[in-house]
Amino acid sequence: MIKLQIETLRRELEQHNYNYYVLSAPTISDIEFDQKLHQLQLLEEQYPEFFDPNSPTQRVGSDIAVGFEQVAHVYPMLSLGNTYSIEEVQDFYERVRKGLNEDFELVCELKYDGTSISLIYEKGALLRAVTRGDGEKGDDVTANVKTIRSIPLRLNGNCPDLFEIRGEILMPWSVFDDLNKEREDQEEQLFANPRNAASGTLKLQNSKQVAARKLDAYFYYMLGEKLPSDLHSGNLMVARSWGFKISDATKICRSLSEVSDFINFWDVERKNLPVATDGIVLKVNSLNQQKNLGYTAKSPRWAIAYKFQAEKAVTRLNSVSYQVGRTGAVTPVANLDPVQLSGTTVKRASLHNADIIEALDLHVGDMVFVEKGGEIIPKITAVDKDAREDNFLMGDKVQFIKKCPECGADLVRYEGEAAHYCPNENACPPQIKGKMEHFVSRKAMNIDGLGSETINLLYQNNLLRNIADIYELKIPDLSRLERLGSKSAYNIKDGAEKSKEVPFERVLFALGIRFVGETVAKKLAFAFKNIEAIKKASLEQLVAVDEIGERIAQSVIRYFSDEGNIELVNRLKSFGLQMSLSEEKLQARGETLAGMSIVISGTFALHSRDEYKTMIEMNGGKNVGSVSAKTSFILAGENMGPEKLKKAEKLGVKLIDENSFLSMIKEEKS
Ligand code: IVH
Repeated sequence: MIKLQIETLRRELEQHNYNYYVLSAPTISDIEFDQKLHQLQLLEEQYPEFFDPNSPTQRVGSDIAVGFEQVAHVYPMLSLGNTYSIEEVQDFYERVRKGLNEDFELVCELKYDGTSISLIYEKGALLRAVTRGDGEKGDDVTANVKTIRSIPLRLNGNCPDLFEIRGEILMPWSVFDDLNKEREDQEEQLFANPRNAASGTLKLQNSKQVAARKLDAYFYYMLGEKLPSDLHSGNLMVARSWGFKISDATKICRSLSEVSDFINFWDVERKNLPVATDGIVLKVNSLNQQKNLGYTAKSPRWAIAYKFQAEKAVTRLNSVSYQVGRTGAVTPVANLDPVQLSGTTVKRASLHNADIIEALDLHVGDMVFVEKGGEIIPKITAVDKDAREDNFLMGDKVQFIKKCPECGADLVRYEGEAAHYCPNENACPPQIKGKMEHFVSRKAMNIDGLGSETINLLYQNNLLRNIADIYELKIPDLSRLERLGSKSAYNIKDGAEKSKEVPFERVLFALGIRFVGETVAKKLAFAFKNIEAIKKASLEQLVAVDEIGERIAQSVIRYFSDEGNIELVNRLKSFGLQMSLSEEKLQARGETLAGMSIVISGTFALHSRDEYKTMIEMNGGKNVGSVSAKTSFILAGENMGPEKLKKAEKLGVKLIDENSFLSMIKEEKS
C-alpha cells in the first residue's frame, strides 16, 4: 500500500518535471510541486526499504564530494568534420551522393554549443552518464547529471532494455548571466561563455551546487543494438515520446537548397533561442546508409557540421590599458570606439598577451576587427591595414609595457609562459588584495567576515598591508569605519583568532605560494613536517617528494628567497599560527599501511575521497590511480567502475569497504 503511494507520487512528480522542464508547460504551481515532493521525501525517509536512486527526490544533489570514475565508452564519441561555407556543405553533399549512389535524406539539426554527454539507460532507468573525455573514455558524472531536471531518470513507453543516447548539456543564457553577475559581485573569475560554464559545472564535485546551476540538455543521437527505427529522425521522435528533450528545430531535407534555407533561417533565428548554438549539423537519415558510408579515423562520413560565422564589427583602437591580476599576471585590454556587436555595445576587447599584440601589428588609431564568437569578452582578430593608407597620421605601434601600471616594478616573463608578470608580489596593491582574499578563503584560513569588499575597505584605510596585518587589527580601528560597525569588527577578530587553530598544511596553502595548491601543500607539510624545513629545502629535496616537480620546487625556493616573505612567515608564526604538523598528526602518521599501494574507487557515504586519500597517506600508504598486480587492495565504495572490478578480479586484488578500512586504521566513523 505504502509502496503504491510512493510509486504514484513519483510518477506524478516525474510527469510535472517533464511538463515544466521539457515541454515548458507546467500544469501545477511551484508550491504544489514542492508540497508533493516534500510528501515523497517524508515517505522515503520513513520507508527506506523503497529507496530508488532515480526517484525525483534524488535530483536535489548531495554535499558529499565525489571524484569521477573513468569509464570506457561502448561506442567511441567522435567529433564532426567542420565546414564554414555553403560550398563546403555542397562538397559534403556530393561526397555522400557519390558514396551512396542512391536517393538519400539529410536531417538538419541545430548544433548546440555546450558539453556533450552520453547517457546509458537500462530497463528504462538512467544507469550512467559519462562525459566525452578523450572520446574513448570519459568521467562518470551520473550524480551531477541526475540534478538536471529536463533529463528523464525513468522513461515512458516501450524502450529497449539497454541503449545509449547522446546530447548536449547546456547552461541557458539567463542562468549564465545570473551566475556571472553573482561571480562578479564576489570578485570571482567570470566564465567566458555558457559552454565553459556548463562543462565547469558538470565537473563540480558537489552535486547540490550542480543542482543550483539549472543546467538543461538536448538530445540528438541514439545508439544501441535494437533501436526503435532504422531512420535517425524516427529514433529522435521516439526518444521524444520517452521523455527526452529533442529540439523542434529539426528538418528532413531532400536537396541542397532546402539545407541552405535551413542554415539561413537559423543563422538569424538562433538569436531568439534560450541556449547557445554555434552551427547546424547535417546527418544522413537512414541508419543503413550511415553504416555504408562509415567513418574516417576521427569522424563519421555520414554527418558534418556547418559553423555559423562569428559576428564581426570594425572599430577604432583608441588605447591599450593593462590590468594586474591576483597572481601578478598582466592582461592587456584594448579600448575601442563603442560599436554594436551581437546586440551589445562593445567598448573593450581582450588582447591576451604580448605575442598576440605583436602578431596583430597593432597601432593606436588602427581600425580593427572585433569578434564575439559566443564569448562574452570580444577579441580583436585582425587589423584593417587598408584603412591605414588614408590615415596619414598613423599612431604609435602598441608596445607591451615594461613596468607594472599599479606599482611601477619591472615586469618579468617566465620561460615558456605567454604572460608578463609583476614580480612585486608583496607591494603591488591588486596582488596584495588578491593574496589576502586567498588567505582568508574557506579552504585556507577560513576567516569569516573578511570578504573582498571589506579587504578593500581595510586596505584603503591603511589597516591592512599584508596578510599578517590581519592578526593585528584592532576592534576600535575597525568599528570606527563607517561601512563596518562593531559587530563585524568582533566577527573579524573572532575569525582571525579561530584561524590560529587551522592546521599547518592549510596555513601553507593559505600563503599563496605559486603552484602550491591544496594537495601540494599537504604533500610538502607531511614530507618536511614544519616551515623551517621547507624554507631550507634544496631543489633536490623538494623534487624528491612524490608529485612535486621542478616548476613547483622552483616556485617554493623563489618564495623563501624573498626577505619580505621570510619576515611575513615569521610574523605569522609569532601570532601563533600553526607552522608545523600537529603532534597528533605526527603521531597519527601510523605505519599501518606502510608500503601499500591502494586504489580508491566508487562513491562513499562516510568520508569524501579526498579524506580517504589523506587517511591513506597519514597511515604510511600510497594512493594510486589504477589497479595493477602491485595494488595491495581497493578501497571500494558504491558503484565501483566495471573496468576496475574486472581487473581486480583477474589479478585477485582484494576489495575493502569503507567500514572495514576505517576499522583497519582505527578511525572514527564520523
Ligand atoms: S552529432 C557522430 N548533433 O558537436 C555524431 N553533435 O563536433 C556525433 N553537437 O561532440 C555528434 N549539437 O558535442 C551532433 N545536433 C547535434 C549536435 C552535436 C552539438 C556537438 C557534440 C559533438 C560536437 C561535434
